[in-house]
Amino acid sequence: MQIPARPNDLASFWMPFTANRQFKKAPRLFVAADRMHYRTDDGRSVLDGTAGLWCCNAGHNRPKIVEAIRRQAGELDYAPAFQMGHPKAFEFANRLVAIAPDGFDHVFFTNSGSESADTALKMALAYHRIRGEAQRTRLIGRERGYHGVNFGGMSVGGIGGNRKMFGQLLPGVDHIRHTHDPARNAFSRGQPEHGAEFADELERLCALHDPSTIAAVIVEPMAGSTGVLIPPKGYLERLRAICDKHGILLIFDEVITGFGRLGTPFAVDHFGVRPDLFTIAKGMTNGVVPMGGVFVTGKVHDAFMSGPEYMIEFGHGYTYSGNPIACAAGIGTLDTYAEEGLLTRGAELAEYWADALHSLRGLPHVIDIRNLGLIGAIELEPIPGDPTKRAFSCFLDAFEHGLLIRTTGDIIALSPPLIIEKPQIDELFGKLADVLKRAA
Ligand SMILES: Cc1ncc(COP(=O)(O)O)c(C=O)c1O
Repeated sequence: MQIPARPNDLASFWMPFTANRQFKKAPRLFVAADRMHYRTDDGRSVLDGTAGLWCCNAGHNRPKIVEAIRRQAGELDYAPAFQMGHPKAFEFANRLVAIAPDGFDHVFFTNSGSESADTALKMALAYHRIRGEAQRTRLIGRERGYHGVNFGGMSVGGIGGNRKMFGQLLPGVDHIRHTHDPARNAFSRGQPEHGAEFADELERLCALHDPSTIAAVIVEPMAGSTGVLIPPKGYLERLRAICDKHGILLIFDEVITGFGRLGTPFAVDHFGVRPDLFTIAKGMTNGVVPMGGVFVTGKVHDAFMSGPEYMIEFGHGYTYSGNPIACAAGIGTLDTYAEEGLLTRGAELAEYWADALHSLRGLPHVIDIRNLGLIGAIELEPIPGDPTKRAFSCFLDAFEHGLLIRTTGDIIALSPPLIIEKPQIDELFGKLADVLKRAA
């Protein structure tokens, strides 16, 4: 394969969520990828421990997806998304509904996880208004939650560093506390035993604000970007019960957990707790073409289908909602998942994965390890006065030694493509153990 030359000027591209100055002094460039591996511009192979950014669930360069995109680009490149349609969007929506939990009969298309979060919040507000409860305008999120970077998702999100630069954000938003409780739950395998009662904070906020003013609660069923916080046993059930009691919609953000990450198609299937809406993106197209969506139940969708038929029912959408090439990539993705059983493969590997992950306990600086499905997190003790530096150094060292990991704060997060084989799990944790042993 011909490797393109390294560009000689890196200044123009202002990189997202990146330490730009550090990167540009010592760039890390991928130029190719196949299945479980990336290739760097200097010809090294790097094992993908993060499915790109939690998105390439079927691994890289998968033929069905590549071919679907090629074919679609030559057939219908773009069709207007408003007041016009094209067959692939309907086909993809039907295919998605077919794998969604029962009752999620409709899907709205967006282009990213951030847009999905904002779309779901707007749907919740509009739903109540249409039904004559326009006073329900409050939105409740959770500390350490991540719902993307647009104003709605950022406002209900709870990662301080993502919020502090941006002023007042949306009014009428409040947060329940996060579920991290290392004093009681450190080194739990799977769902921690303690902390269902953290959901009762929602009752406190209901009492404070009057529940009839609250439109929706949004949480990640398993918080990913903040560093993998697994919901305590019984916690999601309690959230659901409180929402039901007060007529509040429950939104799950499944941008990371969707498409097999927990060993089931969606986290809804894994936990058996049903929200009213849930968001998707990332694994929806295997990360290959940007796309996202919001699944809704008939209850939510049908509430909008009133008024004169010539009127637009929901004043919301994007130029690229249901883009033909994205839909083709999505159909190729679902074909690949189905043929290879990837939406449930994580369940088969979960025990092996958990054993390998928890074998890192006792290595230098490791203060907690968490796992669920094919997700893992290793929390490191921060260097006093230099938070995030230890984990970031591990990230750089791992990359130098042929392993891609992701770090957030002083937490290492792992989420490999769901095609990973057991020897590759061994290789991943062998390399990571060496990284941790070398860490300062
Ligand atoms: C739960 C969740 N919601 C939303 C997003 C935002 O997705 P995007 O970066 O595609 O906008 C992410 C991204 O990691 C996520 O993990």
